[in-house]
This record gives sequence, C-alpha cells and structure tokens, in this order.
Amino acid sequence: MTDYFRRHLGAKLLFSYLVIIAVGTLVLIVASQFILPGSFNRHMAGMGTMMGNGMPHMPGPGAGGQGFGGANSMPQLYRDFRASFNEALLYAALAATSVAILLSLYLSRSVTAPVQAMSLASQRIADGRYEERVQVQGQDELGQLATRFNQMAEKLNQVESMRRQLIGDVSHELRTPLTAIKGSMEGLIDGVLPATPETFQQIHAEADRLNRLVDDLQELSRVEAHAYELEIRPVDVSSLIQTVTKQLAPQFEAKRIILDTDLAPDAPRVLADEDRIIQALTNLTGNALQHTPEDGRVTIAAKPINGQVQVSVHDTGIGISPEHLPHIFDRFYRADKSRSRRAGGGSGIGLTIARALVEAHGGRIWAESAGEGQGSTFTFTLPAE
Ligand SMILES: Nc1ncnc2c1ncn2[C@@H]1O[C@H](COP(=O)(O)OP(=O)(O)OP(=O)(O)O)[C@@H](O)[C@H]1O
Ligand SMILES: [Mg+2]
Repeated sequence: MTDYFRRHLGAKLLFSYLVIIAVGTLVLIVASQFILPGSFNRHMAGMGTMMGNGMPHMPGPGAGGQGFGGANSMPQLYRDFRASFNEALLYAALAATSVAILLSLYLSRSVTAPVQAMSLASQRIADGRYEERVQVQGQDELGQLATRFNQMAEKLNQVESMRRQLIGDVSHELRTPLTAIKGSMEGLIDGVLPATPETFQQIHAEADRLNRLVDDLQELSRVEAHAYELEIRPVDVSSLIQTVTKQLAPQFEAKRIILDTDLAPDAPRVLADEDRIIQALTNLTGNALQHTPEDGRVTIAAKPINGQVQVSVHDTGIGISPEHLPHIFDRFYRADKSRSRRAGGGSGIGLTIARALVEAHGGRIWAESAGEGQGSTFTFTLPAE
C-alpha cells in the first residue's frame, strides 16, 4: 500500500486532499463543540430581545433551564440545531471528498500523463530511437519541460546522425588512397605496372596522404572535443602574421604569388593561444595559396573592430560559388572534389579545425566570395586585450 503511494503521483495527490479535508472537518467539529453553544445562546438571546419577551439570561443549551417557550425547549432546540449542523457537516465532508477524488483524478491525469509520456519517450530514446518526441500541451512548467525534452531529443538526433555521417565520411576518405595503393600493388604483382621509381613514388604519395588524413582526423577529434589546453596570453597580431608569412614565403615565391600584409597601426594585442592561432591562420593562408593561380596576390590584413581584432586573408584566386559557401567549414567538404581527391589535394578538414580553434577563443570565422573567379576572403575575429 505505502509502495503504491510512493509510486503514484495521483495517489499522493488524493491522499493530500483527504488529509486537508480531514483536518478541515476536525477543526469544524472542535469549533462546533466549543464555539457553537456560546454562539447559539448569544443569537437566541438576541432573538428573544427582538421578540420582546425579555429574556435577560439564556442558559447554556446543555445546562437545562428556563426561557423561550418552556423549561426544556432550549436544550431540545439546541439538540435539533446540532443534529442538523452535523448532518450538514457530513454532507459537506462527503461532497468535499468526492470533489477531492475527482480533482485528484483530473490533476493526476493532467500531471502524470505528460510525465508518463516523457518517461516512455526517454526510454525509447535510450533504446536508440532518436526521432521520438512528446506532445507539448499548455505553457506551464510541464509544457516547458516537454519543449525542453523535445529540444534535447532533437540535439541527440543530430549528434547521432553526425556520428553516422562521420563514420561514412571517414571510411569513404580512407577508401580512396587505399584503393589506389591496392590497385598499384596489384598492377605491380601482375606485371601490368612497371616497377619503376615513379610507381613506388606514387604508392608512397598515397600512403603519405593516408597518413596525413589520419593525423588530421586525430587533430580534428582533439580540437572538437576540446581535449587541449588553450594558453591564452596577450599576443601581438602583427608578429603572429609575420610568423605565418615568413613560414609560407618560399611556397608563395615558388608559385609567383605576392603575399603582402595590411596591418592597422593601432591594432591592440589579442587574447589568444599563439600556436593555435598560427595554426588556423596557416591553414587559411595555405588555402589561399592553393586556390590562387600564378601571379595572383594574397593579402593578410588586421584591424580593430568593436573591442575585437579582425584578421582576414584575401586572395585573387578561383573564388567560391554561392552554393559551396555555406558548407565550406563542414568537415570533408571540398568545393572541387575531383581535384582535391588526387594526391596532394587536401582532405577538407583544415577549415573545420580552424573554425573550432577560433570559436574556442570566443571568436567567429566566416568566408566571403563574389563567386567563381572572383577571389575569396576568410575572416576571423579574436577578443582584444
Ligand atoms: N581561398 C580559397 N579559395 C577557394 N576555395 C577555397 C579557399 N579556401 C578553401 N576553399 C575550399 O574549401 C574547401 C575546404 O577547405 P579546407 O581547408 O577545409 O580543406 P582542404 O584545404 O581541401 O584540405 P586540408 O584539410 O588539407 O586543409 C577546399 O577544398 C576548397 O574547395
Ligand atoms: Mg586547407
């Protein structure tokens, strides 16, 4: 029995109502015992005066006595009054109890039904059915809880589909170089491919690509899981940009692309982990180098804006068409898939890592391009010191 009460909200509600009714009835009974006789007398005395038969003193109903129509009429009257009072009390208690039962049934339905629905839905979600949702009824706390529950379920669903997509993407990415290596090896075994240094070089390049992909994936998972410490310090943006330009200068020279900088003289220092921002900026500049034809120009600029410093990498390269622009930061996304898949092409993770790094600093990163052949600009913000 107590177990039943412990487990059912409706039973608890009913019980609490019954306790309130019992206490109320008890108070009424006690009041009728102690207050009713005096009050009855007072009223009867008042009535006697009104009727003009001069009843200066009314004895207590229990005291037996004189007055009002005879010696015994008062106690009798009181007894009748008392009996009708008790009867009324009984009916009132019965009516209150029935209302309590109905109310607790109604309330327990309206409270426990949504809770039960959520409990069932969460059980199903735990079993892996992430598309499960509950109906939102009303705007009270239960309604809000149902809305939050659905939001949580939606988020779980997204995470799950991202996980599935990631596994699919990773297997796909790994398969490409593996197939190439396997094909070359089979060609070598069958004697179709000549055992020349070029063939081995090609196999080596594919293995290298595989290696890079695995390294990138590891880095991505570390960055996305925040499994690294940011060493935030005030950093001078211009020296940070200089480090990157110095690092990449030989490659720019080799491709005859001009790499210049446009630094606002009053740019404050930023609060950042130097190595991490160099990593992000190197990726953006590397991308600009890769997607800009010979004799082009890449400019790295920095300027203060609203308590932040905005760093941008602008190139005069192949640009990004509007349909690719919204997806450019998605992992494994490449605008030109056929070209990038070949050895030497990127794996499409660089921008995803750059975004995670910038966002870990509390900044924002975005890409702009007027379209194909119009060049692109990648910009990120960092909090100023
Ligand atoms: N400056 C740019 N101009 C034109 N397209 C660009 C530019 N930067 C990036 N992209 C497009 O965005 C895609 C994703 O870039 P991202 O840096 O994430 O990957 P990646 O450079 O292909 O590979 P990696 O993981 O080695 O960096 C590129 O494949 C390219 O299609
Ligand atoms: Mg890249």
